[in-house]
Amino acid sequence: MKVLLLGSGGREHALAWKIAQSAKVEKLFIAPGNAGTQNVGENVDIKADDFEALKNFVVENGVDMVIVGPEDPLVKGVYDDFKNDERTKNIPVIGPSKAGAVLEGSKDFAKQFMKRHNIPTAKYETFDGTTVEEGLKFLETLKAPYVLKADGLCAGKGVLILPTLEEAKKEFKEMLGGMFGNASARVVIEEFLSGIECSVFALTDGKNYKILPEAKDYKRIGEHDTGLNTGGMGSVSPVPFATKEWMQKVEDRIIRPTVEGLAEENIEYKGFIFFGLINVEGEPMVIEYNCRMGDPETETVMLRLKSDIVGLFEGVAEGNLDKRDIEFDERAAVCVMLVSGGYPQTYAKGYEITGLDKVEDSVVFHAGTKMQNGKVVTNGGRVIAVSSYGKDKSEALQNSFTQAQKIEFTDKYFRRDIGQDL
Ligand code: AMP
Ligand code: GLY
Repeated sequence: MKVLLLGSGGREHALAWKIAQSAKVEKLFIAPGNAGTQNVGENVDIKADDFEALKNFVVENGVDMVIVGPEDPLVKGVYDDFKNDERTKNIPVIGPSKAGAVLEGSKDFAKQFMKRHNIPTAKYETFDGTTVEEGLKFLETLKAPYVLKADGLCAGKGVLILPTLEEAKKEFKEMLGGMFGNASARVVIEEFLSGIECSVFALTDGKNYKILPEAKDYKRIGEHDTGLNTGGMGSVSPVPFATKEWMQKVEDRIIRPTVEGLAEENIEYKGFIFFGLINVEGEPMVIEYNCRMGDPETETVMLRLKSDIVGLFEGVAEGNLDKRDIEFDERAAVCVMLVSGGYPQTYAKGYEITGLDKVEDSVVFHAGTKMQNGKVVTNGGRVIAVSSYGKDKSEALQNSFTQAQKIEFTDKYFRRDIGQDL
């Protein structure tokens, strides 16, 4: 079959790498892809949210299945757009409908959904420009630190955690005043939860689901979780505290109620659900939902997924995911992200990347790269994900760090403490 994957980051290179291994796939296209995805498929110069161009491409090239990597096209309704077009209505799009993507697109919706279905999450209230006073009063009922979340998508920047009531009140008013534009026209204020985070992923056909290997990501730029938030500096799978018993709680209290809740509410959802969880004294609680895989979690999760991912996608499309097997690799996988100096603030692009051909024993996923005059150059903050297997986490980390030294570009930076906290 012919498969089209949408997106251009490290997550998409990892998905493309896995999809390309399937015996079912005769041709893989990636739109728009990066300098790495072209090694496992063919890049197509179409933006992931240019639905008209994507549909034309799918029809002209006889594409049999579309897989969506990032949230943006999902929140904009790529699933519905394909479904509502005579030409593409029978081509499965792996990803939720626009109504399903609201789980990620609106924090308020996600919180209400969890409340309706008794899914454990932090206590909260949502406020807008007409309820500022009520919001300030609600803040007074909470204990420090204070968690403020812009309702809409803010490219991962919409959550503020403030140490004092005074700062929380000030930022709350600024958020409602347009700090994140329309995305913060509504603000969720929630109770702070203390614990270690873990990302759990499920693939669902709307009725059945399969749970993928879990992972932990490292969001801060500095070692020992200091400094600014980034898109993710590395990931580790498995996560030691995600024991069989803990994962059973996650499935019973969170995953199954979520899939059943979506079905009950007639929300079409055929794709990945990303559960951003926190372990509060042994009990899993939901911090957030995303309607896609995580990045850089995918760069370890794909290493640990033994089964043919395209067979699972077929199960999603055909609604018989319960008939498909999912097997994990018992080894540990880790990913160390090489980033541009200055990231997540300003950084330069266009530096040549060398040493990629010297890497052994690791899988190199490209994140922000592109081809320029026949050379691979940096083209983003997160540049290369170095993913490795090991008999355990330490061995996998050792592999990634060793290989990470071989890849060079000006002002390269990476965290050397990935996985050390576990
Ligand atoms: P989100 O975009 O909702 O994932 O939030 C970004 C980050 O803020 C999360 O990964 C957590 O580290 C932190 N966070 C969000 N909500 C809470 C909460 N209720 N308690 C503690 N930390 C939180
Ligand atoms: N690694 C977190 C995310 O993809 O949102």
